[in-house]
Amino acid sequence: MKKKSTFFSYNVLHKLTPLMMRGEFLKFLKFKFNINNSIVENDRHKMLARLFYEMIPRKRVVSFHYSKPPFMFRFVEDIKLSRAIQIWLVIGLVMIFLQVVIGGVTRLTGSGLSITRWEIVTGTVPPWSNAAWQDAFDLYKATPQYSRINEGMSMQDFKFIFFWEYFHRLWARLMFFVFIIPFGWFLARGMFSRRLVPRLLVVVLLAGLEGFFGWIMVASGLIQRPWVNAYNLTLHLTMALVIFSYLLWITFIAYNPSPPVFHNRMLKRFSLIMVLVAFFQIALGAMMSGTKAGLFFPTWPDMHGSFLPAVLLDGGQWAISSFTHYDTNSFMPALIQFLHRNTAYLLTIMVLYFTWKIWKMPISHGLRRGVLLLVCTLIMQVFLGIITLVNCVSTIPVILGVLHQAGAVLLLGSILSVTYHLRGNTFSTSVKN
Ligand code: HEM
Repeated sequence: MKKKSTFFSYNVLHKLTPLMMRGEFLKFLKFKFNINNSIVENDRHKMLARLFYEMIPRKRVVSFHYSKPPFMFRFVEDIKLSRAIQIWLVIGLVMIFLQVVIGGVTRLTGSGLSITRWEIVTGTVPPWSNAAWQDAFDLYKATPQYSRINEGMSMQDFKFIFFWEYFHRLWARLMFFVFIIPFGWFLARGMFSRRLVPRLLVVVLLAGLEGFFGWIMVASGLIQRPWVNAYNLTLHLTMALVIFSYLLWITFIAYNPSPPVFHNRMLKRFSLIMVLVAFFQIALGAMMSGTKAGLFFPTWPDMHGSFLPAVLLDGGQWAISSFTHYDTNSFMPALIQFLHRNTAYLLTIMVLYFTWKIWKMPISHGLRRGVLLLVCTLIMQVFLGIITLVNCVSTIPVILGVLHQAGAVLLLGSILSVTYHLRGNTFSTSVKN
C-alpha cells in the first residue's frame, strides 16, 4: 500500500507542480525544510514527493486510490442491496398503505374539501390563531358543500374535518422527506444498484403526479357539486395503488432479485390477468365511493330484488349524459355497483381456479404461503364488501368503508406477491449493471 501511495504522490506532484507556481512553492519548501537548492533543482519531483508524502496523513493518501473519481456515482449489484435499503423500501410501503387509509377516513368523514387552497410549503403550518381559523372557515363557507350540506356547522366540527384533510396532506409531505433524504444518502454512498435508481425516480415522479391529481380532485368539489368528482377520485385512488404496486415490485426485487424460475406459461399469464382484474375492481370500488352507489342498493345478494336492476335494461338511459351527470339519476350507481359485485365474483372464481391449479404443483414454500394468503385476503375482502354494503343505510359506515379500502390494498399486494414468484423480475428495464 505504501509503495502505491508513493507512486501516486510522484505522479500527482509531477502534474501539479507547474500549476502551483513552482518557484514560490520551492522557495517555501527550501525555507521550511532547509532543503539544499541543488538537490531540489536536480531531483525535485522525487524530493517533493517524499516531503509531500510525509506531510499528508497516510489515510488521506490511501483514499486517493479510488478507481473512479469521487464525484461519479458508484453502484452495487441487485443482489448486494443492503438491509438498510430493504427496510427503507418497506417503510415507504407502510407509509403509502397508511396514506390510503388516512385518505379513506378523510373521504368517509366528509373532510376532503375542508382546505380550499393548495399551499405546498406554507400549508404545512395549520391555522395558529383564532383569526387564522376564522379565515380558513370563511373560505370553507364559500364552498357548495357548506351551503348545501353543512350549513350552520360549528367551528368545533369544522376543526374536526380540517384535521383529517390536514393530516392527509401532512403525511404526504412526511413521505416526501422519508423518501428523499435516505435516497440522497444511499446514492452518495454508492449503496444502490444501477437499475434501482431510475425505478425510484419513477416513484418520485408518480408521487408528484399523485399530489397534483389530488388537488385536481379537491378543486372539482369546490364548484357546483358538494362532493368531489367521481372520476377524479378514481384517478387519485388508482394512481395511489399504482405507486404502491410499483414500489412493492421494487421491494420484491430488493429482497429476492432472482426467484426460482417457474415454467408454466399459462399460470404466469393468468397471474398477470389477475393483477389487471384487481386494478379494474379497485377503480370500480373508487367509483362506488365517488357515486355513493352503496346507498342506492344496500341489499345482498340481490339489488333491490333483482340480479340486474331495471334501470340498466332501459335503453334510453345508456346516454353520454348519464355518465357525465352521474349524480342526477340512479343509472350510474346501479351500473357501477352491478359491475363491482360481479367483478368481485369473477376475481373470486379466478383466484380459486388459480389456487386449484397451482396447489398440485411442486412449488416453493414461499409461493404456497403466498397463495394461501391470497385466498384469505380475497375471502376477507369480499366479506367486508358485503358487510359494508348492507350497512350503507342513509350513510356509509366509516370503519367498515376504511377496512374495505385497506383490504383492497392487501389483496392487491398478495396478488402481486404471487405474480412476482411466478414471473420473477421480468418487467425490468434493459439497463445492465
Ligand atoms: C375483490 C373484491 C373487492 C375489492 C378489491 C374491492 C375494492 C373496493 C375499493 C378499492 C373500494 C373503494 C373504497 C374507498 O374508496 O373508500 C370499494 C368500495 C366499495 N365496495 Fe368493494 N371491493 C371488493 C368487493 C366488494 C363486494 C363483494 C361488495 C359488495 C357486494 C363491495 C362493496 C363495496 C361498497 C359498498 C363500496 C363503497 C364504500 C364506500 O363508499 O366507501 N365490494 N371496494
